[in-house]
Amino acid sequence: MPITRIFAIYYKYIVNFLSLIEAKREGQALSAAQIKEMIAAYTAGKIPDYQMAAFLMAVYFRGLTVAETGALTLAMRDSGDVLKLPEDPRPVVDKHSTGGVGDKVSLPLSPLLACLGFRVPMISGRGLGITGGTLDKLDSIPGFKTLIPTGRIIEIVQKLGCVMAGQTTRMVPADKGLYALRDVTGTVPSLQLIVASILSKKLAENLQALVLDVKFGVAAFMQTEEKAHELAQTMVALGSECGVNTRALLTSMDTPLGCAAGNWLEIKESVHCLEGCGPGDLNELVIACAAHLLVRTGKSKNLAAAQKEAADCLASGKPRRKWDELLLAHGADLAAFNQKLTLDHTAPEVVELKAPRAGFVSRCDARIIGEVIRDQGGGRLNKESVLNYDVGVDMMAKPGEAVKRGSILCRIHAADKAQADWAKVRVQSAFEFSDEPPKLLPLIREVI
Ligand code: URA
Repeated sequence: MPITRIFAIYYKYIVNFLSLIEAKREGQALSAAQIKEMIAAYTAGKIPDYQMAAFLMAVYFRGLTVAETGALTLAMRDSGDVLKLPEDPRPVVDKHSTGGVGDKVSLPLSPLLACLGFRVPMISGRGLGITGGTLDKLDSIPGFKTLIPTGRIIEIVQKLGCVMAGQTTRMVPADKGLYALRDVTGTVPSLQLIVASILSKKLAENLQALVLDVKFGVAAFMQTEEKAHELAQTMVALGSECGVNTRALLTSMDTPLGCAAGNWLEIKESVHCLEGCGPGDLNELVIACAAHLLVRTGKSKNLAAAQKEAADCLASGKPRRKWDELLLAHGADLAAFNQKLTLDHTAPEVVELKAPRAGFVSRCDARIIGEVIRDQGGGRLNKESVLNYDVGVDMMAKPGEAVKRGSILCRIHAADKAQADWAKVRVQSAFEFSDEPPKLLPLIREVI
């Protein structure tokens, strides 16, 4: 192609896209065709990140209409391949979370679902803001590869019943780019951008049923229950409209999920869950997600029967063995992984935080814990950030727990002594205590 023509195409996108940024800045609605063209141009590298960042910020403040959100979701889904799995009696299902601290549900859930007779072609994301991402956690496993071609994704799902991969240049590439940009431009907590990001990935998997874990609270992108409810309703409506039997669980994210947060520490806790010794809140959510999918696909008559089936399967040890098969299929070094699991810690410095008084833990603030882990290098502050997989917090005391003066509230895993010292001061401020046991609300607040 002559250079003048290449320049003309590039110039057309720059000029046209500027008018779209301006239109959105002024609160105008874009047409489906404009959104489709914008996503195609961005995916083809014809819109620079600085302009897309400006557009995302305009969306953050101005929002998108229902029609725009639907068009954006479909355009992002169609930016790459849509999975076509061979005909098979095993229903194709998945789960996705809007993001939380210590939220590792997907890790034990995938092999559990495979053992319950589903196929789970899980396309996940990296950490966003202070919330952890499944792909970053998986990267802490020696040799585990998350960037795998579509053909191999299909092969692994067909053979094992589950796979855990990332967006690629072939699958939802638009989300791969936008996700990374939103993470470092303060534009993650936009309801419509979250809907498009999550559903574009899930629709590209060609699912029959989907369960969404929509979080609210101090460490969630939607801090109030009302906003989370709106997000859940929007996703359930759009998912169902696109032919996916969708349900959402509204869950609290004021306290980290489980007793460990940080990439490698969460892998370790996921293995504990698969071995029947995971923390209660994690087990509850894993079993609830599996149970809703059993009911949605007609594999169980009702929720109580489904919960029993999922709990029995988890306790059988089969999902733990499936986990090892999954690791091998993703190229992991199983011997190195098992050796790493035996280590008490992998970070150079570990300090204990002690309770300053006797009583009951009344608060363990997930936002503070998430910020400390991100600032220690467990999450990203810009696109070039290099992660430290070993930092984090474990052995966390949870609200309702009785403590004596001097008993362990948590351990902080840090890169060095200086980092451990400042992290300790900050994590201390995450905990509060009461004389009487605090009133605890259920983890799963609503099913939509
Ligand atoms: N998870 C995603 O995949 N996207 C979001 O925007 C938020 C959580």
